[in-house]
Amino acid sequence: MQVYLIYSLVVALVFCIAAIIYLLNKAQAPATANPVVAAPKSYDSSGSKKVGEFYNATTDKFMEVYGEIIQAYRTVNVADYLNYTIASAELKDGQRILDAGCGVGGPASYFASQLNVAVEGLTISDVQVEKSKSVIAEKQLKGTVNIRKGDYHHMVDIFGEDQFDRIVFLESFGHSQSQVHLIENAYKCLKPGGILYIKDLFRREHPNAEDGEKIDAIVNAINDAYCYNVADFTIIMQTIRRLNFILLEVKTPQIKTGEFEHLTISNDFQNLFDIGKIITWENYVFPIDFYEVKVMKPPFDVNKEKHLYFLNRPSEQ
Ligand SMILES: C[S@@+](CC[C@H](N)C(=O)[O-])C[C@H]1O[C@@H](n2cnc3c(N)ncnc32)[C@H](O)[C@@H]1O
Repeated sequence: MQVYLIYSLVVALVFCIAAIIYLLNKAQAPATANPVVAAPKSYDSSGSKKVGEFYNATTDKFMEVYGEIIQAYRTVNVADYLNYTIASAELKDGQRILDAGCGVGGPASYFASQLNVAVEGLTISDVQVEKSKSVIAEKQLKGTVNIRKGDYHHMVDIFGEDQFDRIVFLESFGHSQSQVHLIENAYKCLKPGGILYIKDLFRREHPNAEDGEKIDAIVNAINDAYCYNVADFTIIMQTIRRLNFILLEVKTPQIKTGEFEHLTISNDFQNLFDIGKIITWENYVFPIDFYEVKVMKPPFDVNKEKHLYFLNRPSEQ
C-alpha cells in the first residue's frame, strides 16, 4: 500500500513538472511564427512636412521638365503611359478613385477625361493644389476631379473607411517615412473588393557585397535629394500579406523598349537643377527596380471559415 502511494506521488510530481515546463515554453514562444513589422503606434508627420516644403520649392522646376505628369518611369508619349496605367490599375467607369500623392493633377484629370470616374487627389503641397486648378480646367472631363491639400497618411480621417474602388500611388508612395502605417490606412479606406495599386521604386537586392554597398550609397543619395524613402519590397509584401490583401500582380511596367522614355527626363531634371545630379556613370550600379504592385482588399470576411478562407470569395470576382 505504501509503495503504491509513493509511486502515485512520483507520477503526479513528474506530471506537474512536465506541465510547468510546457506552460513556461508556451509563454516564451513568439505570438506568430513570423516576426511582424507593425507600424509604430503614433505617426510622426515631420517627414511629410519636409516633402511638402520640397514640392512647394521645386514644383515649377518639375513642371518645366516633366510637364504635368511627375513620373520618371514613363513612355516618350506620356499619354501612352497613362493609358497603360488605366488598363493596369483596372480603372473603369463608375469608380471612385483616390490618387494618393497626385502632383499637379495631371494623371487624375487625364483619368477623368477618359473615364466617367470620380477622382479625389491628395497632395502635401499647397503650390501643387494651386497649379492643379489650371491643369484640370484645360481638360474636357467625363468624370470629376477634386484635388486638395492633405497628408495621405490621414486618408481615413479625411475620407472615412470603405470609400474607394481604387487607391493609386503613382511614384508617390516612396515619399512616406511610415509605409506600413500608410498601407494599413489604404486598407481601411478601400471598399471591400477595392484595389490598391502602387507604382514606384524599390531598392534592388544586392547581387554581391560590393554592388550592395554602391546601391545603398546611391539609394541614400536619392532619398536625400528627393525627400524619398525608397521602399523595401520585402517589408511591403509582408505588410500586404499580414493584412490579408489578395495579391493580384507584381510586375515591372510592361512598356515596349521603343516607347520607353529611358529615364532621360530624370537625368535632364537632375542636370538642369542640380538635384540628385549623377557626377559620374563610372562604377554606377542601377540602384532600384520599378514595380507595379496590385492587391485587392478581400470582398469577403477572412475570419470566417478560416480553414479554406479563400473559398469565401464571391464567384463573380
Ligand atoms: C513624384 S510626385 C508624383 C505626382 C503624381 N503622382 C504624378 O504622377 O504626377 C510625388 C507626389 O507625392 C505627393 N506626396 C508625397 N508625400 C505625401 C503625403 N504625405 N501626403 C500627400 N501627398 C504626398 C507629393 O505632394 C507629390 O504630389
